[in-house]
Amino acid sequence: MIAPKIRQTINSKGASVIRKMFEEGIQLKKQYGEDSVFDFSLGNPDLDPPREVLDAIVEVAQDTSHGCHGYMPNAGYSETRQAMAEKVGGEQQTKLEEKNVVMTVGAASALNCVFKAILSEGDEVIVPAPFFAEYRHYVSNFGGKLVEVPAEKDFSLNICGIEKVLSEKTAAVLINTPNNPTGKIYSEAEISSLTAVLKKHGTACGRMPYLVCDEPYRAIVYDGAEVPPVFPKYENSVVVSSFAKDLSIPGERIGYIAVNPACEDAEEFISACTFCLRTLGCVNAPAFFQKVVAKSWNAKADYSSYAHRRDLLMKILDKAGLEYFRPQGAFYLFVKVPEVWKEDDSAFCDHLKKFLILSAPGGGFGKKGYFRLAYCVSEKTIINSEKAFIQAAKNQE
Ligand SMILES: Cc1ncc(COP(=O)(O)O)c(C=O)c1O
Repeated sequence: MIAPKIRQTINSKGASVIRKMFEEGIQLKKQYGEDSVFDFSLGNPDLDPPREVLDAIVEVAQDTSHGCHGYMPNAGYSETRQAMAEKVGGEQQTKLEEKNVVMTVGAASALNCVFKAILSEGDEVIVPAPFFAEYRHYVSNFGGKLVEVPAEKDFSLNICGIEKVLSEKTAAVLINTPNNPTGKIYSEAEISSLTAVLKKHGTACGRMPYLVCDEPYRAIVYDGAEVPPVFPKYENSVVVSSFAKDLSIPGERIGYIAVNPACEDAEEFISACTFCLRTLGCVNAPAFFQKVVAKSWNAKADYSSYAHRRDLLMKILDKAGLEYFRPQGAFYLFVKVPEVWKEDDSAFCDHLKKFLILSAPGGGFGKKGYFRLAYCVSEKTIINSEKAFIQAAKNQE
């Protein structure tokens, strides 16, 4: 018998609305033809992986040394952890070592390891809303409670709101920047205010929350934007990330956890995450792609083509009279549901479907009244969607 909690979750309306939309898209494409369906439902990067990644794949595949497909220490290969220490060290303006890194099965397993490692029954994880929908499950998997704090109108951090819900139950604050679904990058000033509030709270209550930064979109930024580091501002900080989006290899499931060396229990934290990776059944990150990213982590895809698609789609939304937040990074547009729909994002996404536009309702991301368009699709799909958006926005039913 399926556990009642899981049964209830999989049968709930919001459970897998994005995946459902994606699967419906496949059916609709069969019915109406590929070019007639405008599928903005899933954040599946469509750029090819950079040349350096493809070359590294060929090189690693030629390794015939004895044991190269075997187990390795659960935290990962030494050379890969060293490479990640160099990567995160540069991004966080902090010197990291191999011992500060655990290789994981994508950012998803990194988050699950972290939450398994730090959460006790009833502990809370504070998250600014909107947020990546899977966080709900990653936290509840380990008896934790996700505490949603609505962001400000411009999707910046609501520092007072976060301060109000901090308590002795707060195990962590989880931020994702650039953000899925909004494309917002939290500024240095926002990070400073947040870390100041966390330090004040932690000192007063004797439990310093972890600041978990989920950064798989760090490299995908526009208009010269940069993602500010958190390690120099807050000791108990952790970065989780993956190469799913920036190197366009989401199916290869390669990611990592990197802890701030100044964290109060940095060494134990890494031991705990390594243990959790093993006992969650991942055992270790994929051997092949650990070797690939050790050689190619510094490569960049042509993110300007995402910027171009963002601009194309924004122009279409302007013509359709739809309001949106201008993304600073990632590849999502978070769009306001027209007023006549009274914030009913699910109904509006169903309405868009009639025009063969597939999108994701904002409610799944903890923000009703909006919907998400993933513009990591072909330029042709975006250009051809113009008429459908204009008609859908005009035709209010
Ligand atoms: C914000 C965010 N975090 C984590 C993940 C999971 O990434 P991965 O595929 O590396 O597990 C995603 C995937 O879309 C994401 O958008």
